[in-house]
Amino acid sequence: MKNPIYLALDFPDGQQVEQFLIRNELSGIPVKVGMELFYREGHQIIEKLKKNNHPIFLDLKLHDIPTTVERAMENLASLGVDIVNVHALGGSEMIKRAKEGLLRGGASNTKLIAVTILTSMNEISMNDELHIQGKLNEQVTHLAAMSKNSGADGVVCSVHEAGQIKQVCGKEFLTVTPGIRLKDSSADDQQRIATPEFAKEAGADRLVIGRSITRAKKPKKAYKTALRGMLENGY
Ligand code: C5P
Repeated sequence: MKNPIYLALDFPDGQQVEQFLIRNELSGIPVKVGMELFYREGHQIIEKLKKNNHPIFLDLKLHDIPTTVERAMENLASLGVDIVNVHALGGSEMIKRAKEGLLRGGASNTKLIAVTILTSMNEISMNDELHIQGKLNEQVTHLAAMSKNSGADGVVCSVHEAGQIKQVCGKEFLTVTPGIRLKDSSADDQQRIATPEFAKEAGADRLVIGRSITRAKKPKKAYKTALRGMLENGY
């Protein structure tokens, strides 16, 4: 099985990323580049990480009118990353056009996934702040099915929704799950959290882990512990 754990590189700049990866001997592991790092370093951080053989999930969560998202995706296509994403709440037409932009840009191997409801939200904030009524897991499953029908290859969701999404969207539909915490880590701002072991049981395909590893006393050990939780034979 392909290494399924993407380390969230939530660092302020590329120098700190490089130091962290070298110091902790984490060369070549899958990584997630988010807004914080990308807005600082731009395309060059992706090129550097690719040169060092890191599979990349570029987590920019696009959410705009369909034409803008399509053109943005066409530009991102040239980076040749493994995964890019949009917010499912941008709607069906936006997701379709995101895929078209990627394909027109030549990124036929880049997976497009849609963020359902952020794992930092819970049902109360979804109901009261966003005025989206009903059960959170039903909303997430609905957004996943809509994303699939619009051409997405998978979704970002919490571990707690992964099983139901697989039932509705099929086993090939990717579930990428943040909100992962090792047993002794704090929840921070995440609401719907779970351990890697639970994630595996629940049917998550890929995990995104940040602070449980980057803030651990021994990051490499924490990364290996998480991998052991996901893979039968360890790493
Ligand atoms: O530190 P932690 O493990 O909570 O980091 C989770 C990472 O996953 C962050 O980079 C965050 O932006 C990202 N993410 C998330 N929830 C989503 C999508 C992405 O937490 N729905």
